[in-house]
Amino acid sequence: MTLSPPLPQGIATLADHERHAQGTLSEATWAYLCGGAGDELTLARNAEAWRALELMPRVLRPLAGGHTRVTLLGRTLPHPILVAPMAYQRLAHPQGELATALAAAAQGAGLVLSTQTSTPLQAIAASVLPEPGRGPLWFQLYLQPDRSFTQALVQQAEDAGFEALVLTVDAPVQGSRDRERRTGFQLPPDVTAVHLTGLRSPPPRTLGSAHSALFDDLLLHAPTWDDLAWLRSITRLPVLLKGVLHPADAQEAVACGASGLIVSNHGGRTLDTALPTANALPRIAQAIQGQIPLLVDGGIRRGTDVLKAMALGASAVLVGRPVLHGLANAGATGVAHVLRLLRDELEIAMALTGCRTLDQAHTVVARAPD
Ligand code: FNR
Ligand code: LAC
Repeated sequence: MTLSPPLPQGIATLADHERHAQGTLSEATWAYLCGGAGDELTLARNAEAWRALELMPRVLRPLAGGHTRVTLLGRTLPHPILVAPMAYQRLAHPQGELATALAAAAQGAGLVLSTQTSTPLQAIAASVLPEPGRGPLWFQLYLQPDRSFTQALVQQAEDAGFEALVLTVDAPVQGSRDRERRTGFQLPPDVTAVHLTGLRSPPPRTLGSAHSALFDDLLLHAPTWDDLAWLRSITRLPVLLKGVLHPADAQEAVACGASGLIVSNHGGRTLDTALPTANALPRIAQAIQGQIPLLVDGGIRRGTDVLKAMALGASAVLVGRPVLHGLANAGATGVAHVLRLLRDELEIAMALTGCRTLDQAHTVVARAPD
């Protein structure tokens, strides 16, 4: 596949990508891809919290031989930027997840493929795994009420060559996505969650007056900590948890054998008014004391945001919506551009704060949130 079409003129930042992408998508598709839950306070606060952190640069430190390399789960990566799992990417571009995956591999960025991918996981693995400079390839899992279905999906991801599982734990139910409902968003018939088509919903139960459709039906099989143990027992892959915000949950995750944590509020798409991840991260880093790697996502839009995340204890970051903006603007070329911009900005930020390597980042953030 070629890396075409070319980039539109006048795009120099992730914010430019966002502005341009909004003009290319319908209001309803935009609401699904870029909206958040409730009043979208968490959505806005994620980005604001990174911006509000102040850098305190060092000068005259040696910079020669500097680099953005990090190690993550035993691998050295060229830089700490991964693509977050996002459903239904064929809404943004006909080549969807395939374009995203190729661009990530070309830029040495890790890729986390959503359970709700609109492109088969085998096609993604086949295109990413042969790329010599690629980043990690992970599969994001939503546990389905039918555990044998989940087990078969895990097996497919393992067989295809995915290297870790990312269990998302912050969405036992979808958030109240009001903007999306206002626009009447519906998936077009040609964009589906290709791995969930065979899924049967559990049979409806007898209704009483005290019946809650949410708690008594939908959440009857909602995952618990026991399911993490179960998942670990059926896979040889490392399991990371995505969607942890509370330090006590982070400690529980370590005790249950999680291989890593993604500090995330789902980009403000689940619980509105949940705290921004820049504020959750330092508390979790303190609770975990480096026992397992911490990753973070939500509102990362600048290289300085990446540097700040590393300063507050992250081993790597994930980027969500900006990838979809690049995808909508120019397919794989657009995604590659977004990832390249972030990495270039990170290098500049490191040089201007006097950080040769990312393990020096913690010395240049002026004020960590309480
Ligand atoms: C998501 N996210 C998500 N997370 C997940 O674990 N599984 C999924 O299928 C999806 N799907 C999804 C779709 C869309 C359109 C978006 C925007 C997001 C959440 C995602 O992985 C990540 O946590 C946030 O997007 C990060 O925030 P930013 O970078 O978008 O601000
Ligand atoms: C979302 C679900 C798919 O955020 O995680 O849209």
